[in-house]
Amino acid sequence: MLSKNFKAYLDSKTLFFEEELKKELNELSYPDVISEGMKYSILNGGKRLRPILLFATLDLLGIDLNKGVKSAIALEMIHSYSLVHDDLPALDNDDYRRGQLTTHKKFGEAEAILIGDALLTHAFYLLSEKNLTILDSDKIVKIISKTALYSGINGMIGGQTIDIESENKKIDLETLKYIHSHKTGKLLKLPIEIACIIAEANEETTNILIEFSELIGLAFQVKDDILDIEGTFEEIGKPVGSDSILNKSTYPSILGMDESKKILNHNIQRAKKLILDNFGEERGNILIALADYIENRKK
Ligand code: IPE
Ligand code: IPE
Ligand code: MG
Ligand code: MG
Ligand code: MG
Repeated sequence: MLSKNFKAYLDSKTLFFEEELKKELNELSYPDVISEGMKYSILNGGKRLRPILLFATLDLLGIDLNKGVKSAIALEMIHSYSLVHDDLPALDNDDYRRGQLTTHKKFGEAEAILIGDALLTHAFYLLSEKNLTILDSDKIVKIISKTALYSGINGMIGGQTIDIESENKKIDLETLKYIHSHKTGKLLKLPIEIACIIAEANEETTNILIEFSELIGLAFQVKDDILDIEGTFEEIGKPVGSDSILNKSTYPSILGMDESKKILNHNIQRAKKLILDNFGEERGNILIALADYIENRKK
């Protein structure tokens, strides 16, 4: 069970984020299939974990959340694009996402490819143009550069590529770690690093927060693998057993369920300790609660 305070925090940040997101989406119109597809793919009840990590890190560093809002929307657009493409027949071939038909099932495959492309490219418009009145240009350049790096070959796309190449194969632990830390980890690290850039956090603070983000990033995907086996469609909003149908290399498939849960818990404990030791309970309580949430989530 989430504590009352933490639940209130999640609810209020989600509400704030979604209001700002809708304002941005309302500016999009023609071609209808793309604007409707972008809205369909992003306004459908995601957990908003990446925006919340960005806001929680800004809060910890004492920075006004409005400074991160366009970056948060951009990150959620990139995340949503990654899901639209991940679900395509050529990748994971899934029919449901967040409890509704996947984008290609609803709009067609060619359209879903273009809708994903539009989400990705529009994110960079937000990071540049829409950040101009909020942030100094040197920070904007750093944010764009990190975002491009972590989304592409050195980040999410790198991980996705080895993920699909590792279907029907036995891979070693090193490769499995690469897949998870890249396909998922990098886009969870990004909001925390962006918050550090916005806040001009010093090197020591930045390094602690990056280490935290790497621990929860890996844990998040291990939990995703576990939920693919132990979750229910009602809770996770996507088909259960999708990984085993494709014979994916996951933590449970390579190391077994018990060991996967141990690794998940170990990473979460280390992440929490890092925050507790360096920022204390009062200042660190939201990031600590977020780490617990990642371990215990049902969706
Ligand atoms: C799903 O991400 C894909 C992974 C990277 C594991 P989330 O579990 O954050 O998906 P939403 O945004 O809440 O739907
Ligand atoms: C996908 O990992 C990570 C992305 C980059 C989208 P999965 O393929 O395990 O994500 P789900 O389970 O479909 O959400
Ligand atoms: Mg996948
Ligand atoms: Mg998938
Ligand atoms: Mg999965």
